[in-house]
Amino acid sequence: MSEPTEFAPTESASTESASTGTGTGTVRLCSRGEIAPGEARRFDTHGLRVALVRIDDEFFAVGDRCSHEDFSLADGEVWPAECEIECAKHGSTFDLRTGEPCSLPATRAVPVYELVIDGDDISVVVP
Ligand code: FES
Repeated sequence: MSEPTEFAPTESASTESASTGTGTGTVRLCSRGEIAPGEARRFDTHGLRVALVRIDDEFFAVGDRCSHEDFSLADGEVWPAECEIECAKHGSTFDLRTGEPCSLPATRAVPVYELVIDGDDISVVVP
């Protein structure tokens, strides 16, 4: 079985959004319609590697590096009922609301990023 590429960016976010000048800012990732319910997509932007996940009409953003090994969570399966995403490499799942691992072998949380949804645009808050 071949494994997904671990480092190849799959999406590049728009860099048109400006920083607020306070050390944080928002960066537009995509529009709502670009991600289907149950889908996860990886974005590399402003030093962040973000897995953007859609469950029904809710969106979640977590760090796209599994805390067990450096593997893209966006390559994993979304579990809508549990609001979790499963790492495709060894099967740990992570709560999309908290970033906490829900099953081994991962034991550390992944970062959770705040999203700003303005109309059709989805942006991530860069910490
Ligand atoms: S790399 Fe994700 S569970 Fe091992």
